[in-house]
Amino acid sequence: MAKLYDRDINRRLIERILESRRFIQVLYGPRQVGKTTAIKQVLKEIDLPSHYASAHQPTLRNEVWLEEQWEIGRLKAKENKAAVLVFDEIQKVSDWSEVVKRLWDEDTFNNLPLRVILLGSSQLLIQKGLTESLAGGFELIRAGHWSFSEYQDYFGWDLDTYIFYGGYPGAAPLIREPERWVRYIQDSLIETTISRDILLMTRVDKPALLRRLFYLGCEYSGQVLSYQKMLGQLQEAGSTTTLAHYLELLSGAGFVTGLGKFSGQAVRRRGSSPKLQVFKDFNHFGFVIYIEKNPVVPYHFQSSPSGQSAPTCRWHQ
Ligand SMILES: Nc1ncnc2c1ncn2[C@@H]1O[C@H](COP(=O)(O)OP(=O)(O)O)[C@@H](O)[C@H]1O
Ligand SMILES: [Mg+2]
Repeated sequence: MAKLYDRDINRRLIERILESRRFIQVLYGPRQVGKTTAIKQVLKEIDLPSHYASAHQPTLRNEVWLEEQWEIGRLKAKENKAAVLVFDEIQKVSDWSEVVKRLWDEDTFNNLPLRVILLGSSQLLIQKGLTESLAGGFELIRAGHWSFSEYQDYFGWDLDTYIFYGGYPGAAPLIREPERWVRYIQDSLIETTISRDILLMTRVDKPALLRRLFYLGCEYSGQVLSYQKMLGQLQEAGSTTTLAHYLELLSGAGFVTGLGKFSGQAVRRRGSSPKLQVFKDFNHFGFVIYIEKNPVVPYHFQSSPSGQSAPTCRWHQ
């Protein structure tokens, strides 16, 4: 396995960990952008004992589990005068924020030098927990989709390839097999995020509407569409308020967002129709839909003119 890329967030994490214990650090961002990888790289690099606990499998990941893991972290901190405790996928533990707050405050009271880092992939749930219980006691570090310069450095991609396929590093090795790549994006990213992170964890009364809104967002990316028009397109009963809320959920997952019109007057901003925008470089969501609808290979690949190994992909109808 090639050496992993050393992202800027790794440096930021290390700086924060090595500072004196002050706030809980929260690393959040969409699925599959490399949060778990980053923290594991960092734990290897720093010279401090650590305990990594993941709530990835939600069974039995409850308050008791959280306390047990915390206790392991505490022991390490006592033995070594400092330690790092990491909880991955923290949003999967119900009522995590109250428990974390209580345990963190106990450590503060006892002067225990245990640094705590929380990782989470559901922005809304993380934020909910943070504002409910941990207000004032944490700092956020956002792990975003990979940028062009990161792709250039690590994968040697050109801009076209990045615009088309960029964002999620785990999908990069698959781009020479477009069918596999599409399935990966569809199953591991889109479906998993919608069904696990959004539908399982947030109350959504009209899941079908949310899904359609996502696909509509991909098709209309870059265009201004009023909520009324969206409703017309979606053939589904729903109010504009519901749509606005669902768009917010999709935005929190790092998928599609609604950009309001800019105006100096807040009132006018609020009242504007959103411009739908697939996040940053996610043309590929549009690509996925296109392929789903047109199974007879609608794309073709050319070797890039510079002869680089990554193919440049062009729309082709
Ligand atoms: N620093 C990195 N260098 C190379 N590939 C990476 C790096 N970070 C993530 N990846 C790729 O992305 C995939 C998803 O990363 P992961 O850490 O599991 O994401 P997350 O925890 O945000 O869901 C990994 O399996 C790996 O293929
Ligand atoms: Mg992870």
